[in-house]
Amino acid sequence: MQRFRSQTAALSTAFLLLSLGTALAHGQSTRGGDDLRLLDHVTEYHSLPDGIDLRSGGAREQITALRDDVLRIRITRGSSLPEDASWAVLPESRRSSVKVTPESTGDRVGFHTDALRVEIDKNTMALTVSDLEAHVIQKDSKPARFEGDTFRLYKAMGHDEHFFGLGDKTGPLDRRNEAFTLWNTDAYRFQESTDPIYKAIPFFMTYDGGRAAGVLLDNTWRSSFDFGKASADMYSFGAANGPVDYYVMYGPSPKQVVESYAWLTGKPPLPPMWMLGFQQSRYTYVPQSRVLEIADHLRADHIPADALYLDIDFQDRNRPFTVDTKLFPDFTGMIDKLKAENFHVVAITDLHIANAPHQDYAPYDSGIAGDQFVKNPDGSVFTGIVWPGPSVFPDFTQQQTRAWWSTLYKEFVHDGVAGFWNDMNEPSVFNTPSKTMPEDVVHRIDEPGFAKRTATHAEIHNMYGMENSRATFEGLLKLDPNTRPFVLTRASYAGGQRYAATWTGDNSASWNHLRMTTPMIENLGLSGFSFSGADVGGFAGSPQMDLLTKWLEIAAFQPIDRDHSEKGTADQEPWAGGSEQETIRKRFIEERYHLLPYLYTLADETSRTGLPMVRPLFLEFPHAFPDSHPMDVDPAAAGEFLLGGDLLIAPPHYPDELDSYSVEFPSRDWYDYWTGEKIPVPVAVASTNSPQPVDPNTIAPLTIQVKPELASLPVYVRAGAILPMQPLVQSTNETPKGPLTLRVYAGEAGSPCSGELYLDDGKSFAYQHGEYLRMKFSCEVTADGLRLHIGAHEGSYPAWWKEIRAEFYGLQPKQYRAAVKGREVTAEQSAAHISVEAADDAKGLDIEVK
Ligand code: GLC
Repeated sequence: MQRFRSQTAALSTAFLLLSLGTALAHGQSTRGGDDLRLLDHVTEYHSLPDGIDLRSGGAREQITALRDDVLRIRITRGSSLPEDASWAVLPESRRSSVKVTPESTGDRVGFHTDALRVEIDKNTMALTVSDLEAHVIQKDSKPARFEGDTFRLYKAMGHDEHFFGLGDKTGPLDRRNEAFTLWNTDAYRFQESTDPIYKAIPFFMTYDGGRAAGVLLDNTWRSSFDFGKASADMYSFGAANGPVDYYVMYGPSPKQVVESYAWLTGKPPLPPMWMLGFQQSRYTYVPQSRVLEIADHLRADHIPADALYLDIDFQDRNRPFTVDTKLFPDFTGMIDKLKAENFHVVAITDLHIANAPHQDYAPYDSGIAGDQFVKNPDGSVFTGIVWPGPSVFPDFTQQQTRAWWSTLYKEFVHDGVAGFWNDMNEPSVFNTPSKTMPEDVVHRIDEPGFAKRTATHAEIHNMYGMENSRATFEGLLKLDPNTRPFVLTRASYAGGQRYAATWTGDNSASWNHLRMTTPMIENLGLSGFSFSGADVGGFAGSPQMDLLTKWLEIAAFQPIDRDHSEKGTADQEPWAGGSEQETIRKRFIEERYHLLPYLYTLADETSRTGLPMVRPLFLEFPHAFPDSHPMDVDPAAAGEFLLGGDLLIAPPHYPDELDSYSVEFPSRDWYDYWTGEKIPVPVAVASTNSPQPVDPNTIAPLTIQVKPELASLPVYVRAGAILPMQPLVQSTNETPKGPLTLRVYAGEAGSPCSGELYLDDGKSFAYQHGEYLRMKFSCEVTADGLRLHIGAHEGSYPAWWKEIRAEFYGLQPKQYRAAVKGREVTAEQSAAHISVEAADDAKGLDIEVK
């Protein structure tokens, strides 16, 4: 019996191999019936006005151009393309198309646009995308492969190709040689190698020799990305199910790729200005008197601050949308008092609704009445245990559920709660083996642009958190149409930046976690989420006091500066550990407030372009080196990041190490932000062998050694920058008193020098109707000094200043005279700068020092 069975097995294996061989040769590979299909040669094709449609036997591939530099590629194992709908890509972008020019040469078919050439090899069906100068941007290295419900695509990997993006993934900034899974996961106490964590953003940027491209795999199922880990000359991506629908965006500059990704998936809306202030949080400040005590302490110690958070224990038995009235006997009175002290209160509102029938718990009662919760396959409502105990889960894939969700915010908005925190929305479920909903839980898609249908949680999981934050954002807008919502979400998907800011989840109070924050924030920024931060001081565990200090220093230069910590940990407010530490921390938080005009101008830039506030160096300086590799991967530049295009922050590579470390600059001319002194350029760097004028960005890098000190953080300003700064305030509600300061950092004669300022009321949408103030600045190095042009005020929002104080850095030591609009005025002279004050009549003016 045994022998007979194995003989049969051997026979059928032989048959399978034979038929597989034949099938492979004919490009219609099957294994185990129709299980495997490779798209490995073209059997038919026809041109489309905007692309090409190809067949490989029964399988189909369609490549279309949305713009000259943006392609969409859809592949299916059958002949009809799947439903054309997306949670991530904006309908207007998905609908756009450009006319292409068909091309066919020998074995190749394809087309070109004004920016890209698309070629498909008829014999292998390999797709090559190149620019019009024949630089290959992307090239299939193996046929697209379907196996069962899964698919995988393989692309050739250049020997110096680097990969960025994928949201909040841990590990080094560069994703090369790593592999990742996208499956939103509550990763409490994640570590440097933990994967997956909270977000699924299937977007990455490839960068090779100065040429960048972006790929968005628009597929919400569990997906995976391998950047040369499985194979040294190939990267690949695929998903467990769902459509093969991906976009290729060409730069060549990395900034263009980021902007194209924003064009596809949307830009983050302009946040309220207070988001940029210092935020103090803890799990949980209770009772009410403790919240007020924290507020008083911040104000009494003159530590500028804008937001205070209420975590889950402010609620009745952790039930979302309730207040524990024993702990908070006068909740509205507390909010009023905090508002009067210029604090914005952010309340947590998790998505799980306590399964509490007949208990006068309105979110449950109204949710059940409206049939808002996700269901088991047998039609019963799914329950899982989270903070409130047994809980039910809104079906955010239904528009009516999102509309119902918004009603839950009514009272909090009425009470004056300023922002909302959507946590646990992977979703986290404590009592299932997967720690989330079972994959067969049923959602009911009811969404414009989608067919009305049910979908399993396996399909919805990765965008569930995004739709939760969308429901909150859209709901808040409905409740208070003239206030910019602030929503903080933990889980999200591509496009989630349209609704919420984010943070990196439950990190730990360790030096290594401080080090990890920078690449996480940078990659989030490259993946659409400019407005992000990490729990300052660390969530799990109590930080050493020096760690808390260093963390507060670095976070002062990151988009969201929120000190947050777990239940049961030691105090980690800025005063923890005594006055010596507090003095240092306060100085950095104050510096952040001085920089608010710069920060807010960057936030405006994000909302218009998608460019992130925190940037890896290669984003601004792709050609820092002659080989155009991304200098962020250099050990000498480890840990450095840019805030906007002008500030370079260079924390110690390993922030707890005492040894000196190198700071590598991406170009030649930089200033010390704190002293205003020019970084001396050694002769070897300054001179080149070339008799021709050279681009300073391609000269050997300027590197200095820095000795780490607890009380200082190296920050540098790019020569040619004009930084707007303001007098100190204790919160963004306060109007600064005194002049607007413009710090002008001279570059070389003839090199660009510019800056910008954006301002509005910081809260409403009046800016969309012209109530904003935009000013552009530029400067020129003259034969004997500097000239600053201050542009006229654009928009109708009034400035808070009457005077502008211009500070000029980098001038040769001599006695200077100053003139405003050609009339001589007095100039103050100090070691590092010359300063001039001038009335700002909104019409624009020139200030000259010589
Ligand atoms: C989660 C969040 C954390 C929060 C806690 C309690 O762990 O990530 O920030 O404090 O839940 O709500």
